[in-house]
Amino acid sequence: MRPIVVGVSLFTLSAGMAEAAGKLSLYCAAQEEWCQVMARGFEDATGIDVDMTRKSSGETFAQIKAEASNPKGDIWWGGTGDPHLQAAEEGLTEPYVSPMRAELHPWAISQAESAGDRTIGIYSGALGFGYNKDLLAANGLPEPKCWEDLTKPEFKGQIQIANPNSSGTAYTTLATMIQLFGEDGGFDYMKRLHANVNQYTKSGSAPIKAAGQGETTVGIVFMHDAVAQAVAGFPIVTVAPCEGTGYEIGSMSIIAGARNLEEAKQFYDWALTAEAQNLALEVNAFQVPSNKAAQTSDKAPDLATIKLIDYDFKKYGSSDERKRLLAKWDSDVSTLPQ
Ligand code: F6P
Repeated sequence: MRPIVVGVSLFTLSAGMAEAAGKLSLYCAAQEEWCQVMARGFEDATGIDVDMTRKSSGETFAQIKAEASNPKGDIWWGGTGDPHLQAAEEGLTEPYVSPMRAELHPWAISQAESAGDRTIGIYSGALGFGYNKDLLAANGLPEPKCWEDLTKPEFKGQIQIANPNSSGTAYTTLATMIQLFGEDGGFDYMKRLHANVNQYTKSGSAPIKAAGQGETTVGIVFMHDAVAQAVAGFPIVTVAPCEGTGYEIGSMSIIAGARNLEEAKQFYDWALTAEAQNLALEVNAFQVPSNKAAQTSDKAPDLATIKLIDYDFKKYGSSDERKRLLAKWDSDVSTLPQ
């Protein structure tokens, strides 16, 4: 009898251990390399097995909404804050107050407070654009310094930006233009820009990667994504537009109905530590971290020196407003001839 009992209990123990280690389905909307390093870093720290899917912010929101009756993701890490706020308002994400909150900058906490604790800030970064200085010179174009410069006729076919439906970067751009120039002025700007756009990409950072490769002269992106291309050795110049600009609070939310809720909370707490946020430095992610003790790279755009607007996250992250503006962009801007 004895050996059988030992065999059974050993089996039970190893099955129990596997269960204790657990698993986590991570939806990631930051850059691929950072998503990878966060997934592996959490696995190393906890033994929890991470299944990571990377998509853009608007796409991740749409996926979570489509899966709401049968959620497949546990936690959504990264991506612009607006769709996280919309998800919170629509009850697609779960309230959680992390014990790590005291270590965060006020801007990260205010994101949580305005969303009934269903989301929180993990990084921030300013919107801008970058250009390929070799292509600019080859095309005999003047250095663009302002948003307005990008609508000049000589930039026809020279500009790339993402589609605001899929990309948080491009939605931040649309909301920024409305906050800078008013709703009519903002849409008028997007229409004039449209005349110069050579392609709307799915992902927000794709335009500056294309500029790095010499496929487009200008890419409208978060400034940290332009800096990353320059640091990687591409001839990219990063611009903080003269009129002022918007910014993002990259966010994190637990998905409502998460099958692995405990693991999602563990990831949430871990992702707010300075140690986890410092992983950004390993992958040239130049956003500003939300943990006050985490390091900001000296190559990161200095938000204190950039003319930032007082971006109204509550308004532009509200479900009605985001839906309305995207529908208006679809009907009034994307259909215009180029
Ligand atoms: O590439 C990183 C990044 O710019 C993040 O700072 C931002 O939250 C995210 O990408 C937005 O990506 P997308 O525009 O594809 O939603």
